[in-house]
Amino acid sequence: MILAQMAQTTLFTREQIDSRVAEMGRQISADFAGTELIALCVLKGAVFFCADLVRNIPQDVALDFIQVSSYGNQKYSSGVVTILKEPQLDMHGKSVLIVEDIIDSGLSMREVFRYIESRGAAMVKTATFLDKPAARKVPFNADYVGFSIDPKFVIGYGLDFAEKYRNIPEVQVLSD
Ligand code: IMP
Ligand code: MG
Repeated sequence: MILAQMAQTTLFTREQIDSRVAEMGRQISADFAGTELIALCVLKGAVFFCADLVRNIPQDVALDFIQVSSYGNQKYSSGVVTILKEPQLDMHGKSVLIVEDIIDSGLSMREVFRYIESRGAAMVKTATFLDKPAARKVPFNADYVGFSIDPKFVIGYGLDFAEKYRNIPEVQVLSD
C-alpha cells in the first residue's frame, strides 16, 4: 500500500517537533552538565529524534546504538524483546541517556534499561520522543518525554509501519 492511498492526519508538525526537541535538549544539557554523556540511540526509529536531540545538547556527547527486536510487520507487540545489536562503547562510570522513538507497552524500554544498567553506567536516564502511557503492559516512566499521545499508531519522524514512512518529516496518525 502506498502512502497516498491511506488516510493520515498530522499529529505534530515540523515546527512543533523542532521546538519541543530544542526544549528537551536544553533540559537534558542542564541535568547532565559536568558528566561524561553517552546518547544511546535505539535503532531504528529513534535515529531522527536522536540526531536532532544531540544537536541541541551543546556539550560533549558520545553516540552509540542498540537495536532490539521490533514488531516485525505487526502493529502490536509480540511481547518478546531480544537484543539484536549491542552498544560498542565502555559505559563504566558514564552517564547514559537512552534515546527512544516511542514507548508503547513499555517492554522494549524495560529490557534496554535493565541491559544498560548491567553494563556499569554511573547513571542511566531515558528520553522518548513520544509516549503512549495508556498502552503500558509493564510500568515504565521515561525521564524526558517529548509528547504524550493517545494509543494510536503513528508514523513519520523515524517511526515506521512495516519499515515504511520513517522519512515523513512530521508525525501522522496511521488509520486502520
Ligand atoms: P513497546 O516495547 O511496546 O513499548 O514498543 C516500543 C517500540 O514499538 C518502539 O520503539 C517502536 O519501534 C514501536 N512502536 C510502538 N508504537 C508505535 C507506533 O505507534 N508507530 C510506530 N512504531 C511504534
Ligand atoms: Mg523503536
